[in-house]
Order: sequence, then C-alpha cells, then structure tokens
Amino acid sequence: MGKTISVPTKKRTALDAGVTHIDTAESYAGGYAEILIREAICGYDRSKIFLVSKVHQDNFEYVNILNACRRSLERLGTDYLDLYLLHRYNKNIPLSDSMRALDELIRLGMVKNIGVCNFTKEHLAEAQCYTKNKIVCNQVHYNLSFREPERKGLVEYCRNNDVFLSAWRPVGNLPEDIPLVLKEMCDKYRKTPSQISINWLISQSYITTLSKTRHLGHLEENLGALDWIMDKEDIERLRKEYPNQQDISDDVPLG
Ligand SMILES: NC(=O)c1ccc[n+]([C@@H]2O[C@H](COP(=O)([O-])OP(=O)(O)OC[C@H]3O[C@@H](n4cnc5c(N)ncnc54)[C@H](OP(=O)(O)O)[C@@H]3O)[C@@H](O)[C@H]2O)c1
Repeated sequence: MGKTISVPTKKRTALDAGVTHIDTAESYAGGYAEILIREAICGYDRSKIFLVSKVHQDNFEYVNILNACRRSLERLGTDYLDLYLLHRYNKNIPLSDSMRALDELIRLGMVKNIGVCNFTKEHLAEAQCYTKNKIVCNQVHYNLSFREPERKGLVEYCRNNDVFLSAWRPVGNLPEDIPLVLKEMCDKYRKTPSQISINWLISQSYITTLSKTRHLGHLEENLGALDWIMDKEDIERLRKEYPNQQDISDDVPLG
C-alpha cells in the first residue's frame, strides 16, 4: 500500500475513550474502510483491540475466502483478525467449503474466531456442523423496532448454543417522535433514547451491539449506554410495548 493517509486526531477519539471492538468488512467503501482503520489503530497496542472483518458473499469459495482474508489483513496492517465473519448467507456456494476455509484461516493463525452475519438459526446450525471450531457470533439486524431475530427464534437459539448475537443498527431505526414507553424509560434512567435503545440490547444475555457515528457528541452519548443494566421488567416492557415493531429486516433479512 503506497498511499499515505492522514487521520485527524478526532478519528481516534473512540479508541482514546476506551472503545476496543472495531467492526469492518472488505466491502465497506470497497476496502477503504480497512485502510482507514489501519491508520487509526497505528500505535495502539494490537492485543487490546478486538478487530473484526467480513468476507463478502461473492467470495465464499474456499480459495477466495483465503485470498479475501489476506487482502483484509494487508489493508488493516495486522497479521490476524480477532473475528472473521461470512457477511451473508449465499445459497449458491456450498457452505461446507466456506467453513473449511474459515477452519484453515484459524489453523494458519490469520483468524482467532469465526462467525457469520444475517444467518437464520437453521443456517447457523448447518454452518456449525461443517466446522470443528466454535461459531462464536451471528451479526444481525436487531433493535427495538426490528425483531426478526426474536420472531424467528434466533435470539433463543444463540443463547442456548453459546453464540453471541451481535445486533447491528442499534439506534438507526429510532423514529423522530419518541414513543411514550421509551420516553418513560428515559425519565426513569435519566438517559437519552439512543442510550436506552443500546442498553436494551446489551442488558440482555448473549447480545452485544455495534454502534456507528461520525459525530463526537453522538459517540459520547452512546458511551453513556454502557456500565449500567436495565431492570428485567423494563427490558420485557419495551419488548412488548414498543410500537410499530417489524417482523422482518427492511435492509438485510435473515437468510
Ligand atoms: N453485518 C451486516 O450485514 C451489517 C449491516 C449493517 C451494519 N453493520 C455494522 O453495524 C454497525 C452499526 O450499524 P449502523 O451504522 O447501520 O447502525 P447505527 O449504529 O444504529 O447507526 C445508524 C446511524 O445512527 C446515527 N447515530 C448514532 N448514534 C446516534 C445518536 N446518539 N443520536 C442520533 N443519531 C445517532 C449515526 O449517524 P451520525 O454519524 O449522524 O451519528 C449512524 O449513521 C456498522 O458500522 C457496521 O459495522 C453490519
């Protein structure tokens, strides 16, 4: 990579604030996101960062996965990923070949853990049958509005099978008019709607989340979603009473 990129200091604010989990993919900005991350993490203790990337579904053949991972590592300037994910289910490429490739990446030390994204519980179980390594994570669209992982039994499956469900878009689906039940929670916990939305996810067992922002104010706000736990009855109240719930993702449905 001959290109030098200047990363303004504010691009490291999340790291300086203690964020350690960085989620990217070979497809984000056509690989450029990984190059920017390399610049941002330069000088940080690699062992303290949990770096995640994903292979695009068009690259799920055995050799293509190995090559895609090599390219991601090169762009990221690191010799291993903490977690490597299949980005979406692809019915046109045998899942057994893809899982064999993930096993090989672990054997080679290029990847520490493996997982999938947007998989139904059936495809998650099938993927697990093809690998001797543990699938540790399924990254899916899940938040107060979009409940497909609940409706399709994926949340329960993950919990029962020791798999983390990593919820993407924790706040991106919040409506402009904040629903009454959410307002009540904001008052009770003295938190903002975004903080309640994020905390509703991570207060549930086996659920983690990924938050994205370009604004320092939003970053600071979202960090206020951590280090406290919502009461179980409030988690369940939001689960039941949050209005306009959708049964299926409007963006990437489970496949
Ligand atoms: N595996 C997959 O298929 C998949 C799909 C989608 C996403 N992901 C991963 O999940 C991460 C998060 O997903 P996402 O970006 O879709 O959802 P998100 O974190 O909910 O962010 C959505 C938008 O909400 C805004 N936002 C964040 N904090 C806010 C706050 N406190 N107040 C108001 N607005 C706020 C951000 O815009 P501002 O910049 O204006 O703050 C952001 O663009 C992504 O970065 C990606 O790594 C994975």
